[in-house]
Amino acid sequence: MKTKILSLPDLKKAGQKKEIESVPVCKPTDYLLSWGRDKTFAIRTYGCQANVRDSEIIRNYLLSLGMKEKEDFSGADFVLFNTCAIRENAENHLYGELGLCKKAYDNKRDMIIAVCGCVVQEEEATRYILEHFKHVSLIFGTSRINSFYYLLQDCLKEKMRIVDVSSTSFSLLKEPVGSVASRFSKHKAFVNIMYGCDKFCTYCIVPYTRGRERSRDKEDIIKEVEELIKLGYKEVTLLGQNVDAYGKDKGEKYAFASLLEEVAKTGIKRIRFTTPYPSDFNPEVFQVMAKYNNIMPSIHLPIQSGSDEILKKMNRRYTSKEYLDIVKLLREKLPDVALTTDIIVGFPNETEEDFLKTLDIVNEVKYDSAYTFIYSKRPGTPASKLYDNVSESVKHERFDRLKKIIDFYAEENAKKYVGKTTEVLFDTVSKRDKTMISGYNPQGKLVHVKGDESILGQIRKVEIQTSHTYSLIGEIKDE
Ligand code: SAH
Ligand code: SF4
Ligand code: F3S
Repeated sequence: MKTKILSLPDLKKAGQKKEIESVPVCKPTDYLLSWGRDKTFAIRTYGCQANVRDSEIIRNYLLSLGMKEKEDFSGADFVLFNTCAIRENAENHLYGELGLCKKAYDNKRDMIIAVCGCVVQEEEATRYILEHFKHVSLIFGTSRINSFYYLLQDCLKEKMRIVDVSSTSFSLLKEPVGSVASRFSKHKAFVNIMYGCDKFCTYCIVPYTRGRERSRDKEDIIKEVEELIKLGYKEVTLLGQNVDAYGKDKGEKYAFASLLEEVAKTGIKRIRFTTPYPSDFNPEVFQVMAKYNNIMPSIHLPIQSGSDEILKKMNRRYTSKEYLDIVKLLREKLPDVALTTDIIVGFPNETEEDFLKTLDIVNEVKYDSAYTFIYSKRPGTPASKLYDNVSESVKHERFDRLKKIIDFYAEENAKKYVGKTTEVLFDTVSKRDKTMISGYNPQGKLVHVKGDESILGQIRKVEIQTSHTYSLIGEIKDE
């Protein structure tokens, strides 16, 4: 099959400032509508909530063609891999899956296999996929989601491999509003408030794969939340790599606090947001959080390291002391707030002393939980050029020590709920036992109860009887 290249990624260009184009929602063509009837698709999504939301949008595009979704990719007419490049193992996992998919393709040679997301934004990765996975016939970048129909049509009509992964123009998407089908969950919805990242932490690939910070119009966001309320949604999570930078690209200050307040005023039952950046996280936001009880008291505030030396090398723009001051202020304003974080161990040349400073912060903040990672070298990032004198075994040993302490505090924090009543939004039936229903409380703790499907989508009071490290078990307590 021939390859038609519309654009290729370029990591260097991806790091530069550039014009932003506004892209309208794409419309299905008659050709695709007649192709899509009776066809099936399967989607695999890796990575963060930004990717989940992108997959939802593409899934909606496919459903709008009359296609049906299936779990398994064997036998599907269209298979999509929406990829994550944050660490090397996420990328390797993709290559394993693409290898497995070859068998399904050999049994069904008209299967369209597409790859999108952050991995294909890397020059090397796109070249590797084109060379090693000849059964992949469509590759498109994170700024090309709203060109999806046109790319798919090209691929089908011209019987060519299509590649469109621009790094030079990052679009501001207009998102389809109001379709239940466009969300995976019937009760909780991710709502993008901005795209991209301008922070350029030295280890991180995201600014190169997702482009510069672009804020959506406030009116569009509020309209989307109101639409979701009408459809019965109980919870929204406002998404951005850096939510407190919302509006900065349009010259607005403290715009996140006022956006949050307007979202709270819509009356949606629950609001969460992720991710705030420590030094941009301002007291205006805390005040809004304290004023509205539909904003959930749960904050994910990534620290990355407790060592000021390492923070500097990571280009994180705060010191450990400044971070702790923010935590103190936050806890004063919101005494029942749950705090979670992200930590990287084994950044190039991290000393035992640096690592102990990270443990000091963990012992001081006593996080409810944390995502912990071993540093992974990402091609094209500034940190990838650093010589590293720390052995893999030392990195793993530090990781295990950190994990033990994180688990200890998670367990201690979970114990505090035993004997207390907490509100839970139920949204999942256990796969193993249909009588176990789960959901999250305001602080983001996972709670299981005995029940049946009728409570899905409801917010109910639960008395907690038992705690585990990362979950609570209780009983519904009716008023
Ligand atoms: N924008 C968010 C995080 C997005 S990525 C923020 O800054 O808070 C999620 C997490 O992945 C990061 O917080 C970081 O802890 C981790 N991460 C990013 N790049 C990494 C790398 N090269 N190696 C290991 N972990 C990494
Ligand atoms: Fe990556 Fe830093 Fe941006 Fe988060 S703030 S996405 S870690 S560059
Ligand atoms: Fe991964 Fe891209 Fe998100 S690299 S973490 S999917 S922004």
